[in-house]
Amino acid sequence: DRPIPPKIPEFSRDERLRHVIFSRQFSADMLDDLAETADKIRSLSKVRSGQDFLINLLHHKRAMLYFTQPSTRTFLSFMAACQILGITCNEVRDASTSSETKGETRFDSIRMFSSYFDLIIMRSPVARLAEACAYLMNDLSMSGNRSVPIINAGSGADQHPTQALLDVYTLQRSFQFTSPKDSPLGTRFDEVRREHPEVTRGLSHKIYGFCGDIGRGRTVRSLAELLAGYDGVTLAFVAPDHPTLSLGDDLRARLLARGVRIFEVDSLETPIDGKPLIEQVDALYMTRIQKEHNVAADEASFAAIDFDRYKLNRGLVARMKSYAPILHPFPRDQHFGEIPPEIDADPRAMYFRQARNGMWIRAALLAHVFNVDHQISRFYHEQFGA
Ligand code: CP
Repeated sequence: DRPIPPKIPEFSRDERLRHVIFSRQFSADMLDDLAETADKIRSLSKVRSGQDFLINLLHHKRAMLYFTQPSTRTFLSFMAACQILGITCNEVRDASTSSETKGETRFDSIRMFSSYFDLIIMRSPVARLAEACAYLMNDLSMSGNRSVPIINAGSGADQHPTQALLDVYTLQRSFQFTSPKDSPLGTRFDEVRREHPEVTRGLSHKIYGFCGDIGRGRTVRSLAELLAGYDGVTLAFVAPDHPTLSLGDDLRARLLARGVRIFEVDSLETPIDGKPLIEQVDALYMTRIQKEHNVAADEASFAAIDFDRYKLNRGLVARMKSYAPILHPFPRDQHFGEIPPEIDADPRAMYFRQARNGMWIRAALLAHVFNVDHQISRFYHEQFGA
């Protein structure tokens, strides 16, 4: 397979993302624009005229969903997002049904997809494969060959940028305090301020807790890098003190270089700023222990870890701030139990709404990549006014 250039490329064209590979390609302004487009698509989808408009926007486009690693949410929400905008989809979900079994390289597969489709959305267990495919497309473009955008839908343990988009979109809606469905305390911002006078709307100046498998969680890596783009954020990583599971050196260095305040602790009970972390977080991002990556050496060293410290329970949730959303990229692990179902009815449990938000923000991302977001905005204002 192709060597990967050491430098992060600029996968953009004319101020617009062409390939979506890393979460750090998105600025806070771009995230605001995407959230605005997602909100408009969401509203237009509720009325017949809006549905008719959206479904005709990109009906001339075709997308390949090349998912050679299991997925429920990312695959289905990208497919639903394509359908909302009229994009026709096809899929390869199992490389054993493709000519890769006859010795074809992944890069030749990608070139074939680019011959038939206008966009490739890909998930792979191979770290940095999406990045390498984006370089391939750039090279093809330089040589006048057919080249299409690549969207990384999860690559090995390194990046899952579109998951980070929906995580941020969920936080944006939560911290607007304008919707009873999206914020634990709904529209009662004044009430929040009486209890917590320091709280502001928006994502800046907040404490975000990440709990579980920090070292191997590609969603944690991608989200942490997006949150680093907001002013005055604190990121608290709660993981066993184990080289596989705790914060990676590369991510720590990147976050510190951007001036992010970081805590690395092994319990939600550890005090930060004089109080237990669980009582301090403005949002809590739970993750599962990613057993699919386990190697024999890890299994032996995991035996000494008390994994119960990385599970939520009613008592812990009761101590959280009343407005603090609980997020999880899902799937949650029913056997491990990092979020038991008894938490689901708590108004702070945002994870099912978070997954649905993925469909809207991915539709907004497709509109951005195909440069039709301004058309959506114009039509929305014609329909609904300012
Ligand atoms: N969050 C996430 O990537 O879920 P899937 O693996 O089901 O796509």
